Amino acid sequence: MSTENLDNHPFLKALKEHNVTLKASDTSEIPPDSLISVRNLSKVYTLGDIEVPALNNANFDICKGQIVFIVGPSGSGKTTLLNLIGGIDSCTTGVIYIDGQDITQYSGKKLTRFRKRYLSFVFQFYSLLPTLTALENVELTMELIDVDRKTMRQKARDYLDMVELSSRANNFPSQLSGGERQRVAIARALAKKPSILLVDEPTGQLDQKTGDSIVRLIQQIAKQEGITVILVTHDQELLKYADRVIQLRSGDIISDGVQPYNQENRYA
Ligand SMILES: Nc1ncnc2c1ncn2[C@@H]1O[C@H](COP(=O)(O)OP(=O)(O)OP(=O)(O)O)[C@@H](O)[C@H]1O
Ligand SMILES: [Mg+2]
Repeated sequence: MSTENLDNHPFLKALKEHNVTLKASDTSEIPPDSLISVRNLSKVYTLGDIEVPALNNANFDICKGQIVFIVGPSGSGKTTLLNLIGGIDSCTTGVIYIDGQDITQYSGKKLTRFRKRYLSFVFQFYSLLPTLTALENVELTMELIDVDRKTMRQKARDYLDMVELSSRANNFPSQLSGGERQRVAIARALAKKPSILLVDEPTGQLDQKTGDSIVRLIQQIAKQEGITVILVTHDQELLKYADRVIQLRSGDIISDGVQPYNQENRYA
């Protein structure tokens, strides 16, 4: 890419507008095919007089279809980073540029529209509505994207089928196992056809084998549908499903790369 092209890159224009200064190394790292670009991103929580730094000056680019896992000890800033990218928390400094848009400038309706169009979340505790069946829970997200009732029902069935839960469509969450609930949550997240799937500790409540099958499922469907995934996990055994692993410690990115998984190369 020529320097002239770089100057015209919308991401750089947005940085200029927000007076964010980049080091030379930062600019050279901006790939033209980036879907998510994060620059100088920090989050400091304030608790009364105390400032809690949760994320320090993060910089990275994620291209479309990449499956990125975020690892690190408890309190290292994983959820904070995910929430910032998902626009459910606001940063203290920096820029998050998603598909040509600086989302840190968004609020209210604009942010809601952005989230509807681009994002789906899967949380650790499934967050299914207890009074709706598995099928109705999956249908729910499609109500947000204006699909007619008949199409909605069929698509909800298709997604439940994709996560191999057709036979449980009419069960309520309380009538499902933890792994099954998490699969419903995945079907629900996918039914929206998001560009980006944000997943926070999807296996925290599950045994190793079930957790493995859940993450494998996310990886397979994401690859099939070209969905970009950012997934937070504590589980070393799951890193084999990542294209790339970003490791956090005390709010700092201490490694970022495509690292072959093996027993010796473990992330602490
Ligand atoms: N709303 C908040 N107010 C104040 N401090 C917060 C808030 N949320 C998180 N923190 C602090 O920010 C830091 C990062 O928290 P975060 O939730 O991102 O960690 P995490 O890596 O997701 O941890 P875990 O693996 O336990 O989920 C921690 O020190 C935490 O105490
Ligand atoms: Mg967390």
